[in-house]
Amino acid sequence: MVDFDEVATALRRASGVVVLTGAGVSVESGLRPFRGPGGWWKGHDPARLATPEAFAADPALVSEWYDARRLVALAAEPNAAHEAIAELERRVLHGGGRFALLTQNVDGLHQRAGSERVVELHGNLTVWRDHRSGRRVTPDPTPFAAYPVPGPDGGWLRPDVVWFGESLPREALAATEAALAWCDLLLVVGTSAVVYPAAALVGHAAWAGAVTVEVNVEVTPAEVDHRLTGPAGVVLPRLVRAVVSRARRPASRRG
Ligand code: OAD
Repeated sequence: MVDFDEVATALRRASGVVVLTGAGVSVESGLRPFRGPGGWWKGHDPARLATPEAFAADPALVSEWYDARRLVALAAEPNAAHEAIAELERRVLHGGGRFALLTQNVDGLHQRAGSERVVELHGNLTVWRDHRSGRRVTPDPTPFAAYPVPGPDGGWLRPDVVWFGESLPREALAATEAALAWCDLLLVVGTSAVVYPAAALVGHAAWAGAVTVEVNVEVTPAEVDHRLTGPAGVVLPRLVRAVVSRARRPASRRG
């Protein structure tokens, strides 16, 4: 409770809020995380599925795996955690503060929940691009007819995501750097905090003076000031409710 109250107070006072999310935020929407129980990397080798070398060696296998994930993401619905983050964004902006949501997720659920200031660090699974020309397309929400999938410019279509060994999109890195400059509270939600460079953001934010908070069902290696342990879909709505209700209290007393 001490941590919860301290975090609610810090969040209410913060003028620059940054949220960093990972696969755990979509678990309550039925999507699999990568690590831990039920994670993709339990039975699958990331080197064979999520690298440029894997795509060069077996584009059919890689594109079929990503297409299955694309269809699951499109069929899923945002959960209470996505909605609480979108509500937090509205509250912070309404109060004249700054807000950014940095996500490692490629499922598009944050945007579907109403988040607007989203920085996709690892791309988006619902957009694909010709591996030769880079031209992007948004395929229909139905399975591709065959794998690999011919692109518009003579290459194969690949998902517009960041694979291991690839650089993060330049705009995403620039937006992240800008956000860290004004961030005074960083909320780290549902990420195992082991994949760089995203994992390094916690240290950068702390070094720049931000209060850091982890919301997770487990304790990760992230060195944070506060940990709120529990499912994001339970913890975040409670936290946002606490911020909103206490922010309203002085107004209702006056009334
Ligand atoms: P992980 O699968 O590594 O971690 C998911 C985290 O979510 C774990 O710490 C879980 O404890 C936590 N978690 C699970 N359910 C939760 C819930 N209901 N509420 C809160 N937390 C929950 O996913 P990421 O950290 O996102 O990259 O993984 C980072 C990157 O590694 C991914 O973007 C992907 C992956 O390999 C690439 O594919 C390049």
